[in-house]
Amino acid sequence: MIDQDPAALAYARDKQLSAFRDSVDVMVCRVVDIPKKLGDRSFDVIVSAGLFDYFDVPSARPMIEFLCSRLSPGGLLAITNYASEDPGSVNRFITDWVLDWPLIYKTGAEMHSMFPDRSDVTLELSQNETLWLARAAIPT
Ligand SMILES: C[S@@+](CC[C@H](N)C(=O)[O-])C[C@H]1O[C@@H](n2cnc3c(N)ncnc32)[C@H](O)[C@@H]1O
Repeated sequence: MIDQDPAALAYARDKQLSAFRDSVDVMVCRVVDIPKKLGDRSFDVIVSAGLFDYFDVPSARPMIEFLCSRLSPGGLLAITNYASEDPGSVNRFITDWVLDWPLIYKTGAEMHSMFPDRSDVTLELSQNETLWLARAAIPT
């Protein structure tokens, strides 16, 4: 698991994933430093939840390109992002106005445009239509 916040990583490992604690690797790292810190490791599955909402499409694109480049053959990259399509904008009302926590909501077209052309992207809206789940594979 990677995050810039050591407390968030400790909480996830020790509370949420306590049953797997000894096999969870954590790395305190800002996303821009991941290429330097990750070495030449590759992964079957990479999941990024709750991160790309902080980045606009031009900033997200090179990060996603990097993550795709670290997928093992047949591997999968899964990314979530709050959706512009959110029908009642309930979530946006709470994050923007109540919590003063502005996020970058994205359309389906923007989600697709974050991924490299060579990737095979499947996009799905959550049942309440607030969140995108994008799954990308790189055809071998
Ligand atoms: C909404 S939380 C999501 C946490 C977790 N991924 C999850 O799904 O429960 C956003 C997380 O992104 C991390 N974050 C935000 N900007 C970051 C950056 N530039 N580099 C690394 N982590 C970042 C924050 O520290 C925070 O823990």
